[in-house]
Amino acid sequence: MQTLHLTDKENDLQQAAALLQNGDLVAIPTETVYGLAADALNGAAVASIFTAKGRPMDNPLIVHIADKAALPRLVETVPSSARQLADVYWPGPLTMIFKKAACIPDEVSAGLATVAVRMPSHPIAKQLISLSGCPLAAPSANRSGSPSPTDARRVTEDLDGRIAAIVDGGTCAVGVESTVIDVSGDTVRLLRPGAVTVEMLEAVVGTVEIDHAVLNQLKQGAVAASPGMKYKHYAPSARVILVKGSPAAYAAYVNARKGDGVAALCFDGEEDLLQVPFLTYGERANSQEQAHRLFDALRRLDEQGVHTAYAACPAPQGVGLAVYNRLLRAAGFEVIDLE
Ligand code: TXA
Ligand code: MG
Repeated sequence: MQTLHLTDKENDLQQAAALLQNGDLVAIPTETVYGLAADALNGAAVASIFTAKGRPMDNPLIVHIADKAALPRLVETVPSSARQLADVYWPGPLTMIFKKAACIPDEVSAGLATVAVRMPSHPIAKQLISLSGCPLAAPSANRSGSPSPTDARRVTEDLDGRIAAIVDGGTCAVGVESTVIDVSGDTVRLLRPGAVTVEMLEAVVGTVEIDHAVLNQLKQGAVAASPGMKYKHYAPSARVILVKGSPAAYAAYVNARKGDGVAALCFDGEEDLLQVPFLTYGERANSQEQAHRLFDALRRLDEQGVHTAYAACPAPQGVGLAVYNRLLRAAGFEVIDLE
């Protein structure tokens, strides 16, 4: 298949919208990461997302809407907690899980009784949903298991020739995927941290429960609240090892392991202590910058032929919880604690 490379010009967006209406797959920019979109109400179109990505069929998708008014017909009920959170954080990087309405195809919900919905703030994503008239099911636009793409070049690397089109909207502002919360039960539960932080959620709805899988590896055979969290994920081919410690302790640990294919994934301004090749992913105190740069840095490790990367551990607070959650999975939960 020849993949069309489209821009944000009116004609190109019309063409992308027509492809979506036709049941084809189009990669689109959002404020978090690029998504691989299909008409969420067309089961066959949604099924082809799984083939293009090589995604396990038991991992459900997020449905993207452009207008809060589109929510009620996709879900059984809208709990008051969800209404309050949508008022504050939609459009934006927050996904909420509801009991699903009958119109949601099984391909979207992977057989669950719930559906994940988000209203993105990216102008191109919003326009494509409006122009096509379709709610869009869209997982991140990477091959399953790789780091999510934060620009169109990274989408092309993974999906060129496998999908109908890629719309180039530049670099994604946030850089990690949306916060996912379950609002279908009695409490609000965090399944995946993102740029809408626990503190931001609690400011609106009081207490938020943090699912065990956010910070811990699921035991073999355990049922995941969010199926996507059970896989080794966001991982480059290089082996990633997370190292917790002060700049000096981190550098000493990494320097003692220098050798062919060994590199550091460190914070900006802390390179001087290192005797191995390095890539940086932001300043230690700037979680937003780390979120913005992490996935591209992980892909660069592979481009540079790194086989073992020692990653400086981010502080797991605020947006840093999302950065830590993704790095933990990239590392397959391999953490060295020097503290
Ligand atoms: O920022 C984002 O959320 C991006 C952009 C494109 O919007 N999308 C994204 O989709 O990250 P994906 O498929 O890569 O991640 C969706 C996550 C997965 O971990 C999946 O298991 C979980 O949300 N999820 C989706 N529907 C669910 C449901 N009904 N119950 C529990 N978890 C669900
Ligand atoms: Mg993904």
